[in-house]
Amino acid sequence: MNRNQFLNVSCRLCLLGAAGIALPSLLGCGATKTAAYRVPVLERQMRIPLAALEADGSKIVRPEGWDYDVAVHKTATGYDALLLKCTHMDNPLYASGTGWACHQHGSLFNAEGQVRKGPAEEPLVRYRTEVVSENLIIYT
Ligand code: FES
Repeated sequence: MNRNQFLNVSCRLCLLGAAGIALPSLLGCGATKTAAYRVPVLERQMRIPLAALEADGSKIVRPEGWDYDVAVHKTATGYDALLLKCTHMDNPLYASGTGWACHQHGSLFNAEGQVRKGPAEEPLVRYRTEVVSENLIIYT
């Protein structure tokens, strides 16, 4: 998570506390610096133009008809695509520090989707990706 993402998340949490709004009320609005990229899932594939990614190669992707977003980030060898669904009890995840947090019971996952803190025990679901003709293809 970069500085802008950290500030975005921090500000949202401060507003929540001040307003007394429960965290679950924010489900679905994400905690990213920009709007999620909405994409259809056709033949178990999502196609995201590389130009739609952030400068650092990251993006929150919102598959049409899905209950969870997918976090894309650039790696040394390509792109990772992680389903932002807690592996404990299927709660949506939010950006937190350098990874992802579940506000339901406190599980934390690192940027690669590995569990840093339970009760979740399994890593996040990761989808295979490929770059084809200036598009990132996520295979679901
Ligand atoms: S649902 Fe995420 S920690 Fe329980």
